Amino acid sequence: MSKSLNLLMPALGGAAIVLGAAYGLSTRDYRAQEAEMAQTQAETATARAAAAEEKAGAASEAAKTAEARLAEVEAEAKSAVDAATEELEALKTRLAQAEEAARNASSGDAPVKVAADTGPAETPAAPEGGYGIGRAALPEEVAAWNIDVSPDGTGLPVGSGSVEDGERIFSENCAACHGEFAEGAGNWPKLAGGDGSLADEDPLKTVGSYWPYLSTTFDYVHRSMPFGAAQTMSVDDTYAIVAYILYSNYIVEDDFVLSNENFLDVEMPNADGFIVDDRPETEYAKWRVEPCMVDCKPSVEITKRATVLDVTPEETAAKDVAAGGGASSQDEAKVEPVSAETPSAEAPKAEESAKAETASADPELVAAGEKVFGKCKACHEVGAGAKNKTGPELNGVIGRVMGSIDGFKYSKGFQQAHDEGRVWDEAAMAEFMANPKAFMKGTRMSFVGLKKDEDVAALIAYLSTIPE
Ligand code: HEC
Ligand code: HEC
Repeated sequence: MSKSLNLLMPALGGAAIVLGAAYGLSTRDYRAQEAEMAQTQAETATARAAAAEEKAGAASEAAKTAEARLAEVEAEAKSAVDAATEELEALKTRLAQAEEAARNASSGDAPVKVAADTGPAETPAAPEGGYGIGRAALPEEVAAWNIDVSPDGTGLPVGSGSVEDGERIFSENCAACHGEFAEGAGNWPKLAGGDGSLADEDPLKTVGSYWPYLSTTFDYVHRSMPFGAAQTMSVDDTYAIVAYILYSNYIVEDDFVLSNENFLDVEMPNADGFIVDDRPETEYAKWRVEPCMVDCKPSVEITKRATVLDVTPEETAAKDVAAGGGASSQDEAKVEPVSAETPSAEAPKAEESAKAETASADPELVAAGEKVFGKCKACHEVGAGAKNKTGPELNGVIGRVMGSIDGFKYSKGFQQAHDEGRVWDEAAMAEFMANPKAFMKGTRMSFVGLKKDEDVAALIAYLSTIPE
């Protein structure tokens, strides 16, 4: 027994030892041990159960906390949504009010504008309910920004001011920088002088010498001066200041009073010194045509396929044709002049017939046919050593039995034509070339066909020159 155990040990390792030990134990010992083990297991199980219970308790506690938190968050979210909705409603109401006010303002008498009919610029329509940010500008706010004055007087507010008042106001608000007579203090800008200097190397550009529109002066002063205290000048003060700047430039007399009514009568010395860019009206139309974007062609027609584009002219092939056919017929062509020079009755008969055929072919037509064959070259080879490509080689195809090239896998139609012994004569070839799919149902040749009859004729003339 111990011998057999020894034999087992190296083979089964640890498992064998355990087995052997168990075998050696007395039955009773074994029972007692079993009972002990069972008890231990029971104890472990109880302990585990207790632990699990504890864990479950903790988990349910956690679940409760989570639930409570969730409810809290939900409540918070709801009140946030409520608040937002309320705010949105309030904004909508205000927007409606503002729009109403804007309508009233633009149709009525609100801002003091000479060109009242143009009114404040229309605000572009926001999508329903707004963009969700900010609020609609109040009409007063729009009016406050809408202070631009155009050369034609649009936007000029009603008002007036004299040179006399202007001298005082200018002295108080502007002279510190622009000089008592608008001649400029130190390096501050000069607002007067410089007449006739525009063509000089160092021109002096002032309101008097350079500015074409008086409206720019009014707009500029009203909008941005005094420097650092912009928009503090009233409308009337601005009229007075502009009058004074005109006076400083000897454009008006000292008793002049400027108002929105005589504003456009003032002639600025350099009014004609600018060229109005009229290219958008006069030239742009000549340069560009509105591009067609929709339904630009009544029908779509595929005119070419990449596979049949003969993009690489083969020079050698062209030479071959000039010589009267493919590579192998070149030899014959060479023979021909020789035999012509030395007429001999020894010319082989086979060559005689070949010559007759070549001679009957119009060289121009053959050359044209060679060009047409360019469309076939992607799939067909001719000449010495021609191999099957996508399509079978076409040496001597005119007069050949259809589907007869060994090792080329023809479609069923051509296999059948072969079995029936049908031959490629000129008529069949012409029909096939004009519409391959119509001639041979189910043909694997994906070629649209030749549209022009003269191409078909030329091609056949060319193919006829190619010997087997
Ligand atoms: C603190 C100095 C200062 C004061 C005061 C001041 N300006 Fe100016 N002004 C400037 C400066 C600087 C410029 C040039 C601003 C620029 O080019 O951006 C300027 C430009 C101008 C121009 C345009 C000149 C040009 O040829 O481009 C005019 C017109 C003008 N000021 C008028 C006035 C009037 C009218 C007042 C008084 C109501 C005034 N300024 C008060 C500093 C001043
Ligand atoms: C895109 C490839 C492709 C082009 C281009 C193409 N062919 Fe084919 N051609 C084939 C295939 C493939 C077959 C075999 C058709 C079949 O089995 O149905 C075939 C068959 C033929 C056959 C029958 C040959 C035989 O042994 O019976 C002729 C003749 C032929 N082509 C002539 C032309 C000519 C001429 C042109 C040019 C005007 C041309 N093919 C252009 C692929 C082409």
